[in-house]
Amino acid sequence: MAKIIGGIATSHVPAIGAALDNGKSGEPYWQKVFSGYEFSKKWIAEAKPDVVFLVYNDHATAFSLEVIPTFALGCAAEFPIADEGWGPRPVPTVYGHPGLAWHIAQSTILDEFDMTICNKMPVDHGLTVPLSLLYGQPKEWPVKVIPFAVNVVQYPPPTGNRCYNLGKAIRRAVDSYPEDLRVVIFGTGGMSHQLQGPRAGLINADFDAKFLDRLPTDPEALAKISHLEYMREAGSEGIEMVMWLIMRGALDDKVKVAHRFYHVPASNTAVGHMVLENTL
Ligand code: DHB
Ligand code: FE
Repeated sequence: MAKIIGGIATSHVPAIGAALDNGKSGEPYWQKVFSGYEFSKKWIAEAKPDVVFLVYNDHATAFSLEVIPTFALGCAAEFPIADEGWGPRPVPTVYGHPGLAWHIAQSTILDEFDMTICNKMPVDHGLTVPLSLLYGQPKEWPVKVIPFAVNVVQYPPPTGNRCYNLGKAIRRAVDSYPEDLRVVIFGTGGMSHQLQGPRAGLINADFDAKFLDRLPTDPEALAKISHLEYMREAGSEGIEMVMWLIMRGALDDKVKVAHRFYHVPASNTAVGHMVLENTL
């Protein structure tokens, strides 16, 4: 049977991708960011997942104000790299796992979570930057990826509680897929940041530290955080953290924290990162 072996939480700051693509990852500013991922690169190389289920948000790239799916599940065989204004990032095409993705669609929809099935979806920095952080710069990604885009751009995004429960439904779906597959789930975005308005540049290290403390031990408490509280405490883009709760919901109640990292600055965002292992 398929099995979720662990989860990765990570920010997806686009400038991290640009630093890698432009050969700047060795510069002191970026070196501090990348140092937080050395453990995780080894971890994922040893864990050798067959599939990454990657929870991220599209930044008005594949979607626009014309169509705004709350939960968009990538069921295609491949996903092109999006052009976000400077040409597509020079990273390999992302190959999906249509068999598992369609199974997750069936299982979660019959479980009363209304997914949008996407058979065509270019993927932006929300997805490619986390892959680069964990896998570096390979010729081909050594893993199949199921993109799962959550609307956190246009109000109203889903609640943290909805996301947490959806994670549990994704877990049930993966657990019932008959092929022996090792699956790692990514929850991306965050931590505190605000890109716009008078509070642009906001970082709240206290809020972020408490979030990281509770993610392994008390996700139910995090699931109660309201949109208003994210906005007030973590900035307008801090709402991206509801995606971490999808990842957390898909893991065991008890998890092992294999790695934790927090760093400011990286562009406008507090970079938070955690590797969680299932224990059962
Ligand atoms: C930044 C962070 C994001 O999450 C994003 O989507 C765009 C920009 C930033 O820190 O610059
Ligand atoms: Fe973002």
